[in-house]
Amino acid sequence: MQDVFIVDHPLIQHKLTYIRDRNTSTKMFKELLEEVSMLMAYEITRNLELEDTDIETPLVPTRGKVLGGKKLAVVPILRAGLGMVRGIENLIPNVRIGHLGMYRDHDTLQPVVYYNKLPQDMHQRDVILVDPMLATGGSAVIAVDELKKAGARSVKFMALIAAPEGIRHFFDHHPDVPIYVAAVDEKLSEQGYILPGLGDAGDRIFGTR
Ligand code: URA
Repeated sequence: MQDVFIVDHPLIQHKLTYIRDRNTSTKMFKELLEEVSMLMAYEITRNLELEDTDIETPLVPTRGKVLGGKKLAVVPILRAGLGMVRGIENLIPNVRIGHLGMYRDHDTLQPVVYYNKLPQDMHQRDVILVDPMLATGGSAVIAVDELKKAGARSVKFMALIAAPEGIRHFFDHHPDVPIYVAAVDEKLSEQGYILPGLGDAGDRIFGTR
């Protein structure tokens, strides 16, 4: 399939510009990332199944619709993915949240999973994996491996910015997982940063460095 959806709503593109700006404060960066995550989640959840339900308004009985299909799980890749969780929770307060942590092995340069805590019923859930930056794609590939090992059958990957190299690497391994991004940037730098990008997302969210 290899679907890349660029969620280019004007509000998202406006906020993304301030997210990229080096002069944006940590507080603003976090708030904007949260807002963009919520807007992107709105788009990603567009096809959720509904079921009919009978209710009474203060005036008459009527029939309404409520979410009735598969349950959702959101899984941030630590640590920058955490910055996208609250925005999604604001939209879907009951969403279950798993966590995946990875570090890069100095010798092999491959990501190694050091933390994996996922809901037990992953096979019954639509899973949204989140990480602001799809750079080389290494962590995202391993993260989806973990989700599939845990039984997930329906996964979407949501990032803020992707590099073309990362998209290619991701689809080499998981062509069945659609990618949702606010922008596809030009390229990766030699140090593995997305250009023009936004710098180190984790550092900008948590005010480290
Ligand atoms: N991770 C980041 O936080 N920024 C990049 O540009 C690439 C990977």
